[in-house]
Amino acid sequence: MTKTIVVMGGTGQQGGGVNVMLQTPSWKVSVIKRNTSSSKAKGLVSKGAEVVKADSDDEPSMKKAFEEEQQAMTIARAASMTAALEHFIWSTLPNTPKMTNGKAQVPHFDYKAKVDERIRKELPELAKKTSYLMFGEYPLNCVFYDFMKPFEVPGSGKHVFIYSTPSAVKIPWSGNMSVSGRIWVRQLLSHAPKSFGKYAVVVLSGKDAVYVQCSYEEYERVWGMGGRELGNQLKFGGLVEDCTVGYDVMGMDELEIKKEEVGGVRESFEGVRGML
Ligand SMILES: NC(=O)c1ccc[n+]([C@@H]2O[C@H](COP(=O)([O-])OP(=O)(O)OC[C@H]3O[C@@H](n4cnc5c(N)ncnc54)[C@H](OP(=O)(O)O)[C@@H]3O)[C@@H](O)[C@H]2O)c1
Repeated sequence: MTKTIVVMGGTGQQGGGVNVMLQTPSWKVSVIKRNTSSSKAKGLVSKGAEVVKADSDDEPSMKKAFEEEQQAMTIARAASMTAALEHFIWSTLPNTPKMTNGKAQVPHFDYKAKVDERIRKELPELAKKTSYLMFGEYPLNCVFYDFMKPFEVPGSGKHVFIYSTPSAVKIPWSGNMSVSGRIWVRQLLSHAPKSFGKYAVVVLSGKDAVYVQCSYEEYERVWGMGGRELGNQLKFGGLVEDCTVGYDVMGMDELEIKKEEVGGVRESFEGVRGML
């Protein structure tokens, strides 16, 4: 029997992993996005996907974090009203105030964590068939976000990273997003119902980076709001080394994910090197 997987944002870095389901004959792929005439959308259609136009942004006047929480709940409610739905995968992030006793707050993480709780409280039937997927920092962020890019030191031929965190603090990297997303989604789906209610965390272990540390305030002064948000995130990373603590995690072994298929931090950075 053919099953349908509906992917919100299926042309994005994370949702783009949906490509793997297009190669699996027993799955029909339906992608929800706003722009259905983009080249990426057309590419998916040519591979056999259905691309549906929809926008979860129904109350644009609201403040950003609340808006995102609203958007996410709109998606979850729509899923809960679909009687034939078998599995809901919510891409989430750690609850930073809860994990640090209020010492850290990362707004773009915290609204997602709030949605986990709201799914369990307000949509208990959906919660029974929900898996939670957490991705670490995308290596590609170092290409797309100026505040994360390495700089060339004039005359040295060398590059340095300047972040507001001590060098000993590990940054949880997600690995190559064109690989990681699809592997974790595929394994969560194939391990249902065991994966219902569980958290899968996409973090590869890395080594200390060589970079120059600056203060949280200096970083914000240089990069404004983006710098503040990353600064908050790094502060959280300094307080909580293992972001899986307190979650009912289904690890790589249990999901039968092989290290060789995922690759390592080094390979994922080699992949973006040419784009820097
Ligand atoms: N960057 C990181 O390091 C990181 C780490 C962990 C988690 N995340 C999270 O991962 C999630 C996905 O990020 P991404 O990097 O994959 O995003 P992305 O590459 O910017 O792609 C976003 C996708 O969602 C669609 N979309 C955006 N707004 C929409 C709306 N209002 N209604 C319907 N579709 C919409 C886009 O297509 P259209 O524009 O055509 O609608 C596109 O397919 C985000 O929630 C982010 O917070 C990011």
